[in-house]
Amino acid sequence: DKAGHKHFMSKEIAEQPTVISETLAAYIANDASDINLPGDGVDFTKINRIVMASCGTAYYACLTAKYWFEQLAHLPVEVDFASEFRYRTPPVTEGTAALFVSQSGETADTLAALRYCEGKASSILAVTNVPESSIARESDLNMPIYAGAEIGVASTKAFTCQLTVLLLMALKAAHARGHLTGEELKVKLAALRGLPAIMNQAMGIEEAVRDVAVQLSHSRDALFLGRGVMFPLALEGALKLKEISYIHAEAYASGELKHGPIALIDENMPVIVMAPRDALFDKTVSNMQEVMARGGKVVLITDAAGAAEASDGVWHTIVLPDIDDVIAPILYALPVQYLAYHTAVAKGTDVDQPRNLAKSVTVE
Ligand code: M6R
Repeated sequence: DKAGHKHFMSKEIAEQPTVISETLAAYIANDASDINLPGDGVDFTKINRIVMASCGTAYYACLTAKYWFEQLAHLPVEVDFASEFRYRTPPVTEGTAALFVSQSGETADTLAALRYCEGKASSILAVTNVPESSIARESDLNMPIYAGAEIGVASTKAFTCQLTVLLLMALKAAHARGHLTGEELKVKLAALRGLPAIMNQAMGIEEAVRDVAVQLSHSRDALFLGRGVMFPLALEGALKLKEISYIHAEAYASGELKHGPIALIDENMPVIVMAPRDALFDKTVSNMQEVMARGGKVVLITDAAGAAEASDGVWHTIVLPDIDDVIAPILYALPVQYLAYHTAVAKGTDVDQPRNLAKSVTVE
């Protein structure tokens, strides 16, 4: 049932404020002062490293979480594609928590990576959308994402719910390890509880993004740029676009631009820049100006302050509501989802069942 939407993907994008509220309600204590993980939870004071292995969009959720765990909880994190991790014989030792993110909980490579860690890692953690799945069952602790069934092959609400659970874990770890006071935790939790309303408000950008998408649908290639925690989002934007619109898209960390990819820039190369007005904004904007100086057409995704400062000469600016820097990646998923969706609709491709793809990849 598409609930009046033309595609499951559009329905699932629209559901995000609701399902994120449910995820938050499942993990945040009633008095909003603490985060409850299922079962015995995780003792983050006994862990000195996290390894994560996943595929596709779930891998990008892990990459985002690396920034959070390192910055907030001072925990070193390594992230790998499950298909690489499983054959690389990486050392996994005492004190290491192994974490596997998977919507379906059945992805063959992710399951194999989990099994590789059995008997090696101190604890095996899973973040899944299907509690009966193999990955959920074979972990020591499964953290459900409460996204509800996701039908569209392109992951949307599962991604933002994965991010929500991973951010809650990182905050919990930061508090347990003494890097966030009880008061600071409360402030972050209050901000997180405000996210569904902000995301609802942000849905007002859909028409503006659709106009950009109609123009983007004529392009052969596109580039996504982001710095810091926006870099994994750029990767996710590129994956989403190629997956359903078949437009060739790549993502780079903004600072990498001048090390090669800038050679691609001309008037036929739209460049989507993800840049809230945060501590790294000026750096990203200077990369963006390098693109514009070479004739590149920029779509800037930012907030009101960022738009006021940097939209001169930009092809299109998409303005999102203000949000806490730490939470921003969850909100900034929305424009990249809309962009891919409306580009695919403009091209007339099969949005929910893109060619050559399966929802769950149970063979390697
Ligand atoms: O079920 P999983 O989360 O383990 O699936 C991982 C990937 O196959 C999946 O995220 C894929 O990349 C999506 N189609 C992306 O939209």
